[in-house]
Amino acid sequence: MNGLERWGLSRRGTQLLWDDHDLSDLAARFGTPLFVVSRHRLEEAFTAMEAAFRSQGLALEIFFSVKTNPVPRVLEILAGCGAGAEVISEFELWLARKLGLDGDRIVVNGTLKSEALLRAAVTHGAHLINIETLAELETLREIVEREGRRANIGLRINPGLRKRAFHFTTASGSSTSPIGFRRGSGEWQKALRLIVRRPDLFAFRGLHFHLGSGIREAGPYRDALASAAGFFDDALAAGLQPEALDIGGGFGIDTLKEATAGEVLRLFVWNRGQEPPDATRSRGLLDEVADVCAGTLSDYARKRGIPPLRLLVEPGRALSGPAQILLLSVRSVRERARGRRAAFCDAGAMSLSPLLISESHAVFAAGRAEDAGRLRYDIYGSLPTPLDIVSLGRRLPELNPGDVLAVMDTGAYFTSLGNNFAGPRPAIAMIENGSASLIRKRETFEDLVSRDAVSGAGATEVSS
Ligand SMILES: Cc1ncc(COP(=O)(O)O)c(C=O)c1O
Repeated sequence: MNGLERWGLSRRGTQLLWDDHDLSDLAARFGTPLFVVSRHRLEEAFTAMEAAFRSQGLALEIFFSVKTNPVPRVLEILAGCGAGAEVISEFELWLARKLGLDGDRIVVNGTLKSEALLRAAVTHGAHLINIETLAELETLREIVEREGRRANIGLRINPGLRKRAFHFTTASGSSTSPIGFRRGSGEWQKALRLIVRRPDLFAFRGLHFHLGSGIREAGPYRDALASAAGFFDDALAAGLQPEALDIGGGFGIDTLKEATAGEVLRLFVWNRGQEPPDATRSRGLLDEVADVCAGTLSDYARKRGIPPLRLLVEPGRALSGPAQILLLSVRSVRERARGRRAAFCDAGAMSLSPLLISESHAVFAAGRAEDAGRLRYDIYGSLPTPLDIVSLGRRLPELNPGDVLAVMDTGAYFTSLGNNFAGPRPAIAMIENGSASLIRKRETFEDLVSRDAVSGAGATEVSS
């Protein structure tokens, strides 16, 4: 697959189409900046993930990582496909419940879970509460004793991956990460003993790790599974019967690459952006990871004489990332030194998501024939700082004010990391059943001050 097709785009004359919709038309109808979600692409990503693991004989359970894209309609569609929810806060748990997910379809994570979150997880009978420290286990014990309900628990381990200097993708699972139990630590042994002693309070389900985000090869998963085997051995030796392994999320997507520390530095020092990855893989990442999981898990169960472990995943980016794009309008174009051109649009990294700085997103111009001239542009938002980047060094046809740009793969960590820097947040439209409609209205100025109080001479009332 080449060119536009890799992003699900096509051209008809000068129209740039995504999921059969003319992007200039969507921008004109709903205004920019605008996020557009494709229901079809969301469902397709879910089905592809399930198929990759099921083809290896693995009974996979998918819990969408809500923080990645906590937009109710997006969550609803994924839930309709069969996805549960991975939550890290009381808000996310509340949202999942509000959308109709039973506790059994919710996995609760979090480095510092509040008591209220733990209590809600217990009351709703969460499928899994992944405990990260002995102190958290003690707190949960008190809650469970009070509530008189058993809790389904997993233990988050630190698989101790070799720290790759200057790479961020596996940071959470690296040996220097402060997250997760460490094998051999007194805390790990004490946690196991506490769980063994209180089967009336804790239903031990298994282990959990999460390695990072934007991982583009199966190697780190292979290493983490090898490390998890040791933790499982400890649990078995302590008298626990693990039944599941939750390998978190982190799966990268083909059309997007996370920057290394060197690449971020280049961006700041020389204004040099990176191209999106262009190599098309012979085999999908998910197929490779599924292969590694199937082999390792069945080997492990056979050698230890235990039933095969259930496999849970908590994907975010791999499901919602490619299913959402961002439309921006060019407001001004300026010539810069050494033949560089800058195009300023209606929003950039400072309000939409800092990931526009640390990831390479493909950008296309709508309303132009494909063979229009190719010039290099540095694309910025509208804020008065060169950090308000959209993308640097992109090859595009000649741009003019009013042109619409499509920034691809913006479905992960955009709607959740966006902010109100100097103005309202964008609307979100969804393409479903052949037409497009808003699933989130653009914020208004009034929305931004609706919870504020003002006083003093000349102040107009903010809101009732
Ligand atoms: C525990 C956990 N699970 C799942 C995810 C989702 O990761 P991704 O979007 O890379 O799949 C995250 C993201 O930070 C996470 O922290």
